[in-house]
Amino acid sequence: MAPGTATMTAGPARAVRTSLSITDNRTGRTYEIPVEDGTIRAMDLRQIKESPDDFGLMTYDPAFMNTASCRSRITFIDGDKGILRYRGYPIEQLARHSSYLEVALLILSGQLPTRAAYDDWLFNVTHHTLVHENIKEFISGFRYDAHPMGTLLATVGALSTFYPESKQVHDPLVRHHQVCRLIAKIPTLAAFAYRHSMGLPYVHPDNDLSYCGNFLQMMFKIGAYQVNPVLERALEVLFILHADHEQNCSTSAMRSVGSSGADPYCAAAGAIGALYGPLHGGANEAVLRMLREIGSKDRVPAFVKDVKESGGEVRLMGFGHRVYKNYDPRARIIKEMADLVFTVTGRNPLLDIALELERIALEDDYFLSRKLYPNVDFYSGLIYQAMGFPVEMFPVLFAIPRMTGWLAQWEEMLEDADQKIARPRQVYLGAGARDFVPMDRRPVQEK
Ligand code: CMC
Repeated sequence: MAPGTATMTAGPARAVRTSLSITDNRTGRTYEIPVEDGTIRAMDLRQIKESPDDFGLMTYDPAFMNTASCRSRITFIDGDKGILRYRGYPIEQLARHSSYLEVALLILSGQLPTRAAYDDWLFNVTHHTLVHENIKEFISGFRYDAHPMGTLLATVGALSTFYPESKQVHDPLVRHHQVCRLIAKIPTLAAFAYRHSMGLPYVHPDNDLSYCGNFLQMMFKIGAYQVNPVLERALEVLFILHADHEQNCSTSAMRSVGSSGADPYCAAAGAIGALYGPLHGGANEAVLRMLREIGSKDRVPAFVKDVKESGGEVRLMGFGHRVYKNYDPRARIIKEMADLVFTVTGRNPLLDIALELERIALEDDYFLSRKLYPNVDFYSGLIYQAMGFPVEMFPVLFAIPRMTGWLAQWEEMLEDADQKIARPRQVYLGAGARDFVPMDRRPVQEK
């Protein structure tokens, strides 16, 4: 089956059969290549050969800039129009009317759940929040100030050893158990990782609280602690916004590791590793650093001038996106949420600098002509900081809800008969065949 262009085709994949004629100017031969859903199969190019013993034509596409690696029915993005939908539902409606766990079930199952299905899901997730006591010992082996994202990565991977049956990845029921466990346990592991890094005692899950309320109390409870409903709802919305984003770097990692048949704990550990990088899950931390460096509103014009004159070296962090060439719909929702959160926490003093930056940038032709608009990270760090999360927790706060997307994409991959172990080709440019030379006969190399 040809790879689908989920980012270009709204709604169910349509089988549009047309073709592409390719003339190979090396041989003069012409080939008819079928076009389906706006794509050609890369394997159809293999027949194009200069001579019978030629390997055949391949495409060269570093960073998969123009290669669809799967057909997906989970998330739709139209980057030019600023549209994001999970299973067809606009992100704005889900953020306004739904809860994170309901959205998680929607993403995983494809349908908005009935009351009975939702209650069942809620019960399962709520009753899997505890982790084995050995996990605490495992975490205590980390350095006293270990970065919580490193601890999270390792503990999620370690769960593989607690649930050996998870290796039966082709059994839907076994998979369902691991999905419940991972979504239920990741807030517990995240909070434990944070508290270890702070030298604080662990707080156990409270099954009477909501998913986000429970996470907040596991993070911040010292003595009596009351979950603030505004902050709880804000976190719920932020989790909804981060739940999936189709074939991004960490999701590709999840699919790629999972394609070897690895269990979901190992695959999710790989995905967390990908998310850890500053180009993916670390951008909102960079936004905070940038705002602190600017320091005050009156210094914004000078900073914008620096960005414009730097030839791409100084970047306005939290602006621009590989896919969105219009306002990131998530950024708009987060901006509204920031106002609400600040009514409880007090206004983050960096907000004024951020608003001024946005105002000036959105009037400037440099940013407009390059289609650079605020992305999801521009305001999220300000909210997390105001809520009391240290910057080291920002990528962890991304990983908790993205677990849903990773798992949904992993299951979709396993059920897709077209998928095999991920194994890209390469263009070899190294040395040709040569004979081994003993060490004492090798020429001295100039440094
Ligand atoms: N500030 C100033 N100029 C920029 C920026 C920016 N944030 N982003 C892109 N440009 C310029 C860039 O210099 C280039 O200009 P020119 O055409 O004159 O050479 C042009 O815009 C195109 O840039 P690009 O690097 O080719 O664009 P890209 O699609 O490869 O990069 C990006 C996308 C997100 C890496 C980039 O916009 C960026 O570095 N943004 C800042 C970091 C950031 O906020 N990242 C979070 C992304 S959202 C979270 C997630 O999904 O993981």
